[in-house]
Amino acid sequence: MTSLMVPDARTLFERARGRKILVVGDLMIDEWIWGTVTRISPEAPVPVVAVADHSFTLGGAGNVANNLRALEAGVVFAGVVGNDAFAAHVRELLRNEQVDDSGVFEIRDRPTTRKTRIVAHSQQVVRADWESTASLEAARRSDLADFVRSAAARCDAVILSDYAKGLLCREIVEAASACALVLADPKPENIALFRGVTCVAPNAGEAATITGIAISDEASLERAGLRLIELLDCRYAIITRGEHGMALFGRAGERLTIPSVARTVYDVSGAGDTVIAVLALALAAGAPIEQAMELANFAAGAVVAKLGTATASPEEILALLEPAT
Ligand SMILES: Nc1ncnc2c1ncn2[C@@H]1O[C@H](COP(=O)(O)OP(=O)(O)OP(=O)(O)O)[C@@H](O)[C@H]1O
Ligand SMILES: [Mg+2]
Repeated sequence: MTSLMVPDARTLFERARGRKILVVGDLMIDEWIWGTVTRISPEAPVPVVAVADHSFTLGGAGNVANNLRALEAGVVFAGVVGNDAFAAHVRELLRNEQVDDSGVFEIRDRPTTRKTRIVAHSQQVVRADWESTASLEAARRSDLADFVRSAAARCDAVILSDYAKGLLCREIVEAASACALVLADPKPENIALFRGVTCVAPNAGEAATITGIAISDEASLERAGLRLIELLDCRYAIITRGEHGMALFGRAGERLTIPSVARTVYDVSGAGDTVIAVLALALAAGAPIEQAMELANFAAGAVVAKLGTATASPEEILALLEPAT
């Protein structure tokens, strides 16, 4: 079934170790408040959560960085935080993962993007978001583009991780082209920004919105893939299809459709971050696109078995690959 064998994957992980990847994108912090509900508030008809635990994790493009670190890649991050107390938290989380945060700029009058979730008895009670999706002002855009240009030139690949929070713009995408290998996880509303990248990897819903093609069978899937390549003038388009796996379309006629490989599915959030991270790292390590996609599919299969946005280690990916080969 699969053409990626365990020894190929091992070699790839070895080659990937220490490759340098620049992640440019919308950085977020996820705040988690865990507790139990014992009563209803006397103030309003809402539950009162007695807090037992409080923690922070990196989200958005930060989760792409985490996924790369789980595979022992070197990571440089370019993005923004606000001028608030959470900016330091974000830096601390990046540094704990040994991510180079010298390209994380602090922006005045902008909040650090934060999603606060209150969870009681494993059930999300409410979520509160702090964010601004306004684009950066010209001077900040150009600071960031300067950083991206010089960092891209010394990295093996660049990942553009778009969560539509106002960071990515044409100037920054053009600066990323100082690296020969640029991958994008795009949001449909910003698709025009990503023209000229090496590879785009939207999910099926996003691909349908971008191309205007309803994906209902193999033929429409292929039309959407080819349309993506034409629209963006990119070398590869990979459409991720949730439980149906993923499909590759290449400008030089490359085609590959693979089923998903997850054994248990617990939480699919963040699987797209794992996919773009593994694709970029495998290509940076010299893998052919088909192998890079298969490895990404196994990595995604490993993370969907975990709660929350998660990462997969080489051992976990190999364990999933083992019985398949
Ligand atoms: N329900 C599932 N069962 C098995 N594998 C899954 C499932 N959902 C996701 N995957 C794996 O994860 C990959 C990416 O998932 P998906 O296409 O949902 O991306 P996404 O929508 O960008 O994810 P997200 O936005 O949550 O990060 C799939 O190609 C597949 O390998
Ligand atoms: Mg996605």
